[in-house]
This record gives sequence, C-alpha cells and structure tokens, in this order.
Amino acid sequence: MDYRFDQALDHRNDGSIRWEQPPGRDDIIGMGTADMDFECAPCIKEALRAVAEENIYHYRFKPEGYYQSVIRWFRDKYGLEIKKEWMSNVPGTIGAIRLALERFSREGDYVLMQSPYFAPLKNTIIGAGRHFLENPMMETNGIFEIDFEDFEEKIRINRPSVFLLVNPQNPTGRVFTMEELDRMVEICAKYHVKILSDEVHFLVTYEEHKHIPILAVSETARKIAVQIFSFSKGFNIMSLPHGIVLISDREMQEQWMEFLTPYSFGYASNSFAIAAVTSAAGGAADAWLDQVNAYLYENRELFLAEVKRRKLPIRPIRPEAGFLYWIDCRESKIAPELLGECFMEKAGIRLNNGLDHGEAGRGFVRLNFAVTRTKLLEALDRMEEMFRRFVDHSI
Ligand SMILES: Cc1ncc(COP(=O)(O)O)c(C=O)c1O
Repeated sequence: MDYRFDQALDHRNDGSIRWEQPPGRDDIIGMGTADMDFECAPCIKEALRAVAEENIYHYRFKPEGYYQSVIRWFRDKYGLEIKKEWMSNVPGTIGAIRLALERFSREGDYVLMQSPYFAPLKNTIIGAGRHFLENPMMETNGIFEIDFEDFEEKIRINRPSVFLLVNPQNPTGRVFTMEELDRMVEICAKYHVKILSDEVHFLVTYEEHKHIPILAVSETARKIAVQIFSFSKGFNIMSLPHGIVLISDREMQEQWMEFLTPYSFGYASNSFAIAAVTSAAGGAADAWLDQVNAYLYENRELFLAEVKRRKLPIRPIRPEAGFLYWIDCRESKIAPELLGECFMEKAGIRLNNGLDHGEAGRGFVRLNFAVTRTKLLEALDRMEEMFRRFVDHSI
C-alpha cells in the first residue's frame, strides 16, 4: 500500500504547536517542533477506534500483547532480548528522564551531556537541582563527533553521577556507532557514572546508519544504563504520549521501581496510547514506517541538492537519523541572535534558532523537514527569495 505523504491537512488552526501562526500572519510554514505532517499508519486509527468503540476506561493492567509487541520489536529489529521485568512506563520521555535523574543522582551533582543539545533536557537537569556539564561535539567535514578527551576529562574532574546520552542525537542527527557507544560506556563504568540514554529518534535512520540501543552495547552497559524511548517520533503519535524505560540490572530495577511506584503511572496508563503502541510495535505499521523513512530520505536529499543548486549561503548537516536538519548559517551574514526572527519575518518559516540548543548552536538553525515535498520546495523558494532580497541590505 502506498501512503499519502504528499497530502497534508492544513494545521494552522487546529492547535498544532509547530503550525501556530503569530499575530497578524497566516502564511508561516511550521518547521520547528519535531512532529510530522503525515497521517499515521491505518493500524493506529483502527487500534484507537477499537478502544473508543468499547467505551470502557477501567484502571487496567497493560495487556500481555503490549509487552510482547515491544519485546518483539527489539528482538526482530535489534537482536536485543528484553524482558518484561525490564519495562516500566512514564507518560512522557522527558518526565521519565527527570525522574531517573532524581533516582540515580543527587542534588548538586553534575550531569554530563553532549552539546549542541535539546534544551528541554538541559532544563530538566537544572530543574532537578543538578549542575549541567557540557561535552561539546566536534564537527569535521559535516560529521559531529564525540570529543573523547574532553568527555573523560570532564568526568575525571567533575565526577558527574549521570551521563545523559541522546542517541540518535538531537539536533546534529548523529547515530553513534558501536565503537563510540562502547567507548562512552567503558569510560562511564570506569568512573562509576550511570548512563541515561534518550533514544526517542531511533525509528527514522538512513542508509548504513543503524541505531544501536544502549542495552545492546555490552554487558557493562546493561549494568549501568537506563534506556528511555517512545514510539512517538517514528510513528507520529506525539499526542499519545507513552515513555518506556528499560533497565536490565536487577539492583537498578529495584531502586527504580521503588522510586516510581508511588507515582502510580503503571496501572493507570492511557488506553489509547497502549493500543497505539501495541499495534505499531506489533508490526502492523512496519510498511508505513519503511515508507515514511523513504519519504524523509528523499526530502533530506532534495533539500541538500536544492540548497546547492540555488547557491544558498547555508550549510545543512546531513542527518544520519531523524527529520531535523542542523544548518550552519554562519556565512549568511545574519546575526546569530536574529536567525529565528529573520527566517520567520523575511521567509515566513518558523524554525529553531541554534542558540536555543546552547552556545554550541551559535550561527546554526534547526529545521524540521517532515513536511510534504510541496511545502519543502515552497520553503526553499522562500529562503532563496529572503537571501536574494534582504540579507545583503537590511539585516
Ligand atoms: C531528544 C528528545 N528527547 C525527548 C523528546 C520528547 O519525546 P516524547 O514526546 O516522545 O516523550 C524529544 C522531542 O522532540 C526529543 O527530541
């Protein structure tokens, strides 16, 4: 079956955060917040309809089928044999990370994270009363890499209790290799640092870049890591929030469950989110996911080719995963502080200023390309016009 990714509803007035229009305008293309314009897999609608048809919303245990779907997903796609007792859930992944920080670190501790970063994660570290410790990534020829010397040095000196890994990385789109993951794990183990691994962008990957779940890295990783993810990004079900936490180490599991149980998330899970996840992770949306990956791949390639063909003064970093372009605008003559405003006012495109992702994002923007091809081309036309008309003169 071919899905209609080329058609999208008009989301400007339906409460979509990405498509919200600022006062006085109705022409803004939403290319910020990380959700997609595409209709979900048909199985999602069927699963949700079945829940609504029944119209009974008891407190419920999660059905066995839910566990089996998630277990199957990791076995078939990643060769990772997870067990039911490894699994718990929290309504959203950021909330899950906040809780895991509270459990696995103490107030005043350092928490290490790569930069540029996804700001809500930094906010959750600060909000939990921990100190944010930054390991800036280094870019060589369009690829952001871990600065391992800085990584180990920061750990050795500051003794963080937790390293918050984001893999695939947001905003650079890196998918870390086994070698990189293993090295991070070994350094963390050496200094008794726990790893919280945020893997929400794992379902969209390109070419040879294959996601490796942290718990599939090594026996050492399984002793010190917490894997946190949702099926939301890949299946475009962001408003059916359902964060999943996997812990394989028995002692950490016990500590976590003792801490989490009083929140009562486990027994009162949302029936719609459970039904959607059971259906998609059970395999009914595999073809949809393959096609959305293929569509996004084409968008990624088209955007880069068009930027080159039109000679736009920007340098998009090709993501290995996800649907976000991290774009170097330092040659564009637009002041870094004004990048977001400039794209919005002069091109009618809402995206994220790189500075929202920390000082490492100075001169960059982040652009969501999970839009229809028609919208993507319209955005490119508008950017071309913006650079032609305004940049040399009035910025
Ligand atoms: C790195 C990262 N973590 C967590 C989230 C939140 O994911 P969810 O809505 O599935 O909880 C996002 C959303 O953009 C993200 O980019």
